[in-house]
Amino acid sequence: MKALLGTVLALAAGSLAAAVALGASSGASAQSSALSGTAAPAAESDEAVYVRECALCHGPMGTGTLMLARRLGQDNAVLASRTNLTGPYVEYVVRHGLGSMPAITRVEVTDAQLAQIVRHLTRPQGARR
Ligand code: HEC
Repeated sequence: MKALLGTVLALAAGSLAAAVALGASSGASAQSSALSGTAAPAAESDEAVYVRECALCHGPMGTGTLMLARRLGQDNAVLASRTNLTGPYVEYVVRHGLGSMPAITRVEVTDAQLAQIVRHLTRPQGARR
C-alpha cells in the first residue's frame, strides 16, 4: 500500500514536472514570436507603412485629400504626390492633428514608423513613379 502510494505520488510529480516544462517552453515560444512581431515593421517598405497608416484618409477619395483640395487646391490634395512637404511639418501634423485630422499617438504609429512615412513623403523626385 505504501509502495503504491509512493508510485502514484512519483507519477503525479512526474506529470507536474512535464506540465511545468511544457508551460515554460510554450511561454518561451510565445515570447520569441512577440519579439519577432516587434521586429517586423522594419522590414516593411516606407510606402507600405504610409499606405497602411495614412491612405485611408489621404488616398484618392479620402477625407484628407478632399479637405486639402478644398483648402490648398488640387495640386496639394494628394499627400503622396506632393514635393513641398518637410519632415518637421509632417511630424508636427501627425502628432498634434490639424483641423479634422486627429493627432496620431506613438502607440498607433511609432517614431520609427513615422520616420518611414516622412521618408516616403519627402522622397526625392527620382524615386517617384
Ligand atoms: C482620419 C483621417 C486621417 C488620417 C488617418 C490621416 N490624416 Fe492627415 N489629414 C486629414 C485631414 C482631414 C487633413 C486636412 C486638415 C485640414 O486641412 O483641415 C489632413 C492633413 C494632413 C496634413 C497637412 C497638409 C498641409 O499641407 O497642410 C499632413 C502633413 C497630413 N495630414 C499627414 C498625415 C500622415 C503622415 C498620416 C498618416 C500617419 C495622416 N495624415 C493620417 C485626415 C487624416
